[in-house]
Amino acid sequence: ASKTLLLLPGDGIGTEIMVEVEKQIAILNDVSNAGFETEKALVGGSAYDAEGAPVSDATMTLAQAADAVLFGSVGGPKWDGVPYDKRPEAGLLRLRKEMELFANLRPAICYPALADASSLKREIIEGLDILILRELTGGVYFGEPKEIIDLPNGQKRAIDTQVYETYEIERIARAAFDLAKTRSGKVTSMEKRNVMKSGVFWNEVVTRIHKDEYPEMTLEHELADAGGMKLVKAPKQFDVIVTDNLFGDMLSDIAAMLTGSLGMLPSASLGAVDAKTGKRKALYEPVHGSAPDIAGTGKANPLAMIASLSMGLRYSFEMIREADALEAAIAETLEAGIRTVDVMAPGCSEVGTTGMGDAVAER
Ligand code: NAI
Ligand code: MG
Repeated sequence: ASKTLLLLPGDGIGTEIMVEVEKQIAILNDVSNAGFETEKALVGGSAYDAEGAPVSDATMTLAQAADAVLFGSVGGPKWDGVPYDKRPEAGLLRLRKEMELFANLRPAICYPALADASSLKREIIEGLDILILRELTGGVYFGEPKEIIDLPNGQKRAIDTQVYETYEIERIARAAFDLAKTRSGKVTSMEKRNVMKSGVFWNEVVTRIHKDEYPEMTLEHELADAGGMKLVKAPKQFDVIVTDNLFGDMLSDIAAMLTGSLGMLPSASLGAVDAKTGKRKALYEPVHGSAPDIAGTGKANPLAMIASLSMGLRYSFEMIREADALEAAIAETLEAGIRTVDVMAPGCSEVGTTGMGDAVAER
């Protein structure tokens, strides 16, 4: 069966880096007979200009039907004045919400060639390859009540509510163990069961899913604060870390910055496995935005976008060999001293977006 990819390049450097991903897809089709069929649509400000909305209904339909969505980046000063619900970022939020992408994956990979660019010692991060799995649609960011109220004594009270229901923890736990199957088999769950009821419950549910459905995997638990410390001190002890929306927001930003440039960081957002087809909805995108300051200069680093394709190969298509090969090609390109300006180092040679995409494609 063919594999359908919906390409949503978006705005700014999004369109430039997507071209480099298309080169890799063409090679996967030629060399590996991957059978990818791609479609392209507008998203973000460019969709607002042409179609009156940051993501049209027609594009939503394509996204729901595709095996995976590859998303570039959206936004830019050009759309500063558009109504709030039509701003470029609203396109991405609609995609996440309607596709029910509750599992956000942020890998922290340290390419050996970039190990010295980190603020941490080489031995701490060299060879690092961990995955933070953040619950994306529940928890304290969405729980009700959520308000600031006036008290009779003239004071005010601000309330956010951490809420998790059984099914929300079950599905993120399953996602974690499914991901761990394609890796070392180890999952570390992080919460604060010492001070939060939701932490006690999170721990219980994850433990039960492990025992009942994934007994062959390894499960460890950490308190989120101690886990954060260990993440910085000795991150290689982890493989998959699964945690809630709030802790995941912080821990994934920390983990990402262990390894370096914004131009290098991919991400994935996954939905539930469809009982009928066995497939899950998925959107892959770089962590960075549309970089209006360098858009149009041909200097953007396409590696975060290319690494996002690699995550798609791994998690949507079980093309592990191809994903490994693509990541090896990225590592070898960096090793050969071929660098865009954001990851430039002494003795290396500078290329632009196209040159970087070509170098990876060649390898
Ligand atoms: P940004 O990530 O676009 O840029 C931050 C800095 O990193 C800039 O100096 C940029 O040149 C650099 N940078 C980013 N990606 C790079 C790459 N691939 N290669 C080389 N350098 C790179 O964040 P910023 O400036 O805060 O936001 C710009 C626009 O992007 C805004 O409209 C914002 O709302 C939007 N945005 C969109 C996101 C998305 O589409 N998911 C995520 C973050 C921001
Ligand atoms: Mg954050």
